[in-house]
This record gives sequence, C-alpha cells and structure tokens, in this order.
Amino acid sequence: MLKHLSHSFGEEPVLIDVNMHVERGQKVALIGPNGGGKSTLLRIAAGQVQPTEGVVEWAERARPGYYDQHQDEALDGERTVIEEVRAVADGTPDVDLRRVLGRFLFIGDDVFKPVSVLSGGERSRVALAKFLIQPTNVLLLDEPTNHLDRTTRRKLIEALQQYTGTILCASHDPGIVEGVATHVYEVADGSIRELLERRKD
Ligand SMILES: Nc1ncnc2c1ncn2[C@@H]1O[C@H](COP(=O)(O)OP(=O)(O)O)[C@@H](O)[C@H]1O
Ligand SMILES: [Mg+2]
Repeated sequence: MLKHLSHSFGEEPVLIDVNMHVERGQKVALIGPNGGGKSTLLRIAAGQVQPTEGVVEWAERARPGYYDQHQDEALDGERTVIEEVRAVADGTPDVDLRRVLGRFLFIGDDVFKPVSVLSGGERSRVALAKFLIQPTNVLLLDEPTNHLDRTTRRKLIEALQQYTGTILCASHDPGIVEGVATHVYEVADGSIRELLERRKD
C-alpha cells in the first residue's frame, strides 16, 4: 500500500497525496506521460527513494525485487552465465536455474559461456533470468522491454504472463499493458488514476 505519498525534487512536486492498494497476484501497469512520475513511484516502492511525505507498507510475506534497464551493465564478465544466476539463486538447484535459462534461450553448453563474450541481447536475457530467479514474489519493473531485441522482449512477456506473484510495471508496451496487466493506472499531474480493471485468471 502506498499511503498519502507525496514527493518533490526541490521545489518541483512529482507526486501529490498518492494512494494505491495492490493485492497479491495483481499485475499492475503504470502508464502516463514522460516525466509523470512512474519511475519515481517505483523507486519509492522499492525503497530506493525516500518519499517527502507518506509511507509504503508491504505485506509481511512480500519480497519485492526491482529491475530497471541498466541491470545488464551490472553483470560480472568474469563469471559464466550459470555462475552469474547462481549468485542470486539462494541455493536453487542448477537443474531449475537451467530451466529458467532455457526459457531465455541459453540451451546446453550456452550456460557455460563467460558473460564477457555475450552480445547485448544475450546480456539482457541473463539479467532478466537473474531477476526472475531471485527469491522475490513482487516484481517492480521500470520499462523492462525498452531496448530489448524482439526475441528477448517476447520471452520476457511470456515469463511475466506465467509469473504467479505480483507485478508493478511502468510500461507502454502493448504486450505488457494488454497482454500481462490485470490493472492499469495512469500517473500524471501528480496523481494516479485507475483506467480499467481486468481479470486474467
Ligand atoms: N533524481 C532526480 N532529481 C531531480 N528531478 C528528478 C529526479 N528524478 C526524476 N526527476 C523529475 O521528476 C519528474 C518525474 O520523473 P520520472 O519519475 O522519471 O517520470 P517518468 O518515469 O514517468 O517519466 C520529472 O520531472 C523528472 O525530471
Ligand atoms: Mg521513467
């Protein structure tokens, strides 16, 4: 729950008394104009930015994880693909890691490639696999399909459709807004407004 959140950068108000209640299993898309405050809202929810006013309250069992477009720059080139995901996997067996990596098209010996030799698209796929493998149950995503190649974008959308946890995602990608979201909110002029409610059960 976001309760009476307000945020300003200097004199500039970005969010004004925003209230939001997201329930377990909901997949929320945040849309709205550039500069409307979507990224700020996500970063406040992720605990990366302290709001000027208001609070974020998480359910006791919620384990949020935050992903933005720069995660592929944070990969360790010295590691192999499987080592890189194992590092965040909290003891998940390799067979399960390889299943997720397989969904992101790392098949067979591909998982033993060093990260340093991967293409840009492959690096984003490793970063996304890492993100999905973390022991989180709430995904906070900031425009995750921007800059992805078509295949990686499609794989990510499939993974988000199958995801059984909760998602809060800034995006205008129709694959996400139409294909993943159960709820859509517009963030604009300091406020949020629910646009429509859909059920995907
Ligand atoms: N770190 C920051 N310092 C100052 N202003 C910022 C900062 N981050 C965002 N802003 C401003 O806050 C407003 C909302 O930005 P943002 O949350 O990134 O919007 P969106 O993600 O919807 O495009 C914009 O006017 C932006 O310039
Ligand atoms: Mg943004």
